[in-house]
Amino acid sequence: MKIEKCKTASIILAGFLVISCNVKKDSLDNGSSLKNAYEKDFYIGTALDINQINENDSEVNNLIATQFNAVTAENIMKCEVIHPKWDTYEFDLTDKFVAYGKKNKMFIVGHTLLWHSQLAPFVRKIKSKDSLQLFMTNHINTIAGRYKGKIDGWDVVNEALNEDGTYRKSIFLDLLGEDFLITAFKLAEKAAPDTELYYNDFNIEQPKKRAGAITLLTKIKNSGARIDGVGIQGHWSLDGPPVKEIEESIIAFSKLGLKVMITELDVSVLPNPNKMVGANVEQNFAEDPKMNPYTKGLPDSVQVKLAQRYEDLFKIFIKHKDKISRITFWGVNDGQSWLNNWPIRNRTNHPLLFDRNNKPKLVYEKVLGLKK
Ligand code: G3I
Repeated sequence: MKIEKCKTASIILAGFLVISCNVKKDSLDNGSSLKNAYEKDFYIGTALDINQINENDSEVNNLIATQFNAVTAENIMKCEVIHPKWDTYEFDLTDKFVAYGKKNKMFIVGHTLLWHSQLAPFVRKIKSKDSLQLFMTNHINTIAGRYKGKIDGWDVVNEALNEDGTYRKSIFLDLLGEDFLITAFKLAEKAAPDTELYYNDFNIEQPKKRAGAITLLTKIKNSGARIDGVGIQGHWSLDGPPVKEIEESIIAFSKLGLKVMITELDVSVLPNPNKMVGANVEQNFAEDPKMNPYTKGLPDSVQVKLAQRYEDLFKIFIKHKDKISRITFWGVNDGQSWLNNWPIRNRTNHPLLFDRNNKPKLVYEKVLGLKK
């Protein structure tokens, strides 16, 4: 009798399992979570776009809240959005972003106080050193001051270096000279004394630019300004840069006494015109179907390559978890990624851990698997 009952139960259970496998949406159903898996190592962050900040889609919203414990605003805190005119600041979206991070108990990153790109048009028209200095002072005091005690870390200066490690030509360098970085860090420290302050750039894992970054970071430190960390953006591809260069950079930056972060991680799977690396948004190429091979989805063979690439990266991150405070992906899902439009517009890239339907990809399982 008991055996019969047991058999019946097994059949029911087996049936249930078959049914539940069929209806099972994906591996997220078992409660798996990147932020929980890596909780003891570093924050796992993502970058939010306007729709996500406005919580327009409950599925994405749920994904963000369950998978990530750090957030960066992808665009809304850039000068052209937050400070469009000399006396006008637009704080609504940033207020929402900060409230979103607080509600979800996340580490909140401000991106970014000073960047040569996405400047409001009025800034580009400034001609005198004094006016630019005044702009910079007002900009940092007003924005960093408003979010004092609310934002946990600021990208104070973004992308001030060329690929050869020299200073990038910009309105700030032209009118204020190299010391504009030191001034920016001093202003940020005053306006937001309890916030971590970072320098953030792409390709600084590569030897020449890394050397330039080390010189720059040392100069900021030696000036007496406070700098707490350095963000290696991490706009990478399947083929490069080599993990060895990334590892050497993590070690070198950490030796300066700085926290190291990977701040804008994504891995492009698409063909790369001119073997470009990094994230110079000014560089663009014409559309061409040959350069857009995965419009109908990512083939299994490339899913495997992507998973392997991320596994190699995360093995290094885990090895150096004592030096790394945060790994932030540049977007929540593939549909959101800026890499669908750079360096060629209207492509279908697949650089993140979640696909266009917010489903975890093979790479998600692999990154999670490293912690099992
Ligand atoms: O919001 C406008 C919209 O009103 C307009 O109709 C539309 C027309 O093109 O443009 C929209 O703005 C776009 C914006 O993203 C929001 O989607 C800009 O054109 C587009 O240039 C902008 O791209 C952003 C890029 O920075 C330049 O700011 C990307 O989303 C963003 O991912 C990217 O992020 C940068 C980091 O801040 C710094 N490091 C490199 C990284 C990648 O480029």
